[in-house]
Amino acid sequence: MLTTKENERLTRVGRGTPMGEFLRRFWLPALLSDELPQNDGDPIRTRTLGEDLVAFRDTNGNVGIVDAFCPHRRAPLFFGRNEECGLRCVYHGWKFDTTGQCVDMPSEPAESDFKDRLRVRAYPTYEVGGMIWVYMGPKELQPPRPPEMPFTLVPDNERRGLKFLVEANWLQCLEGELDTAHVSFLHSTFGDDGTGIQNLVRDDGYTNDRHPRLFALDTDYGFVYGGRRAQRKGNYYWRVTQFLMPMTALIPSASGYSGGATIWMPIDDNHCWRYLVGGTRPVREWNTPGDVRSRRPLLPTEPGTFRFPDGKEIDTRLAKFRHANMYGLDRDRQRKLSFTGIPFIPTQDQAMTEGMGYVCDRSEEHLGSSDIAIIHMRRMMLRMLDNLEKGTEPYAPAHPEVYRVRPLDVESDHAELPDVLQEYSEDARMPVLV
Ligand code: FES
Ligand SMILES: [Fe+2]
Repeated sequence: MLTTKENERLTRVGRGTPMGEFLRRFWLPALLSDELPQNDGDPIRTRTLGEDLVAFRDTNGNVGIVDAFCPHRRAPLFFGRNEECGLRCVYHGWKFDTTGQCVDMPSEPAESDFKDRLRVRAYPTYEVGGMIWVYMGPKELQPPRPPEMPFTLVPDNERRGLKFLVEANWLQCLEGELDTAHVSFLHSTFGDDGTGIQNLVRDDGYTNDRHPRLFALDTDYGFVYGGRRAQRKGNYYWRVTQFLMPMTALIPSASGYSGGATIWMPIDDNHCWRYLVGGTRPVREWNTPGDVRSRRPLLPTEPGTFRFPDGKEIDTRLAKFRHANMYGLDRDRQRKLSFTGIPFIPTQDQAMTEGMGYVCDRSEEHLGSSDIAIIHMRRMMLRMLDNLEKGTEPYAPAHPEVYRVRPLDVESDHAELPDVLQEYSEDARMPVLV
């Protein structure tokens, strides 16, 4: 349970809010690279941490992310012409480059230096890992590069990723990532029904423990937690998840992408994107060779425009099954085949988190022993926000190399998490425990 005040501190992302300022210390995913597929291509509208922005790829391939509205008379730059290394507002022709500098102002006298003094608000960008990252924080604290998560280190042709919009606050979605117990219920099936739903509950002695014991350990990038399930044959099945500050979980094979990352990027207080990105190759420790899970389509998505209650729009990707079509819920299927009757694991998650309302009221919840990782994350975040307000900057943003860690989905004789991490440390960088 959280007080209403704590809930506000953790969930609000606007500039000037405690969490909004904390998030602005990190490089954040703004777009998938393929949302801006070509130089001088179509600009797209987006919203990040509550700020309306326009993104464009210029003649040289550089990406600009700038205020959605022209600094002259606030016309929407989305309608602009993307030409010769700049985006030209179609209202009066003012033109801006990817750094935000005004480079042409044809409506003013030629001798005027007004243009040299005028900029549109622009944020630095960095492209790596199939993503365009943005930094929206204080200039003097800008980290050298985005976090080196495993998916940023594999060749482009060995990675796949998708994103879709979720109509809920980012934190309740992230909490679903840290809640390993729900996998045995929400995502379970009564036999393989071929929809990509994973069945962790079997009768063959593999794993049938629905009460995992949870262990969490702080690290220099966030924390690592393990869910330990007893197996009938006497050892343990461990699902070890990495929480990478401020919004990423590296989850074991249930992601369908080996070593996959799930990133919950706040659009504003009431909406976020779920990014699912990972390597295409099975990784032996947590995905047996040829495992069909790594080849199944994870989720059908489609390009679309989303209109917010305030009338602003963005150009983005939407899940094919979503609130508008009741998530594809099939009650007959629920009776016979799957626990939910909802196709696709991410859709099952989406139905739960959106159904809570935009911002979950955590003063009404009752957490149990399976919620240890969620409690751990909230405490860590509240501590970080307190520290930042006292002037202590977070460690991780300036140290992208600490993010080179992996999740584990393994059997082990060990009953303690540090021993499991040690056993598999050659594949997963041994986290620096703090
Ligand atoms: S509003 Fe953009 S140039 Fe006038
Ligand atoms: Fe889930």
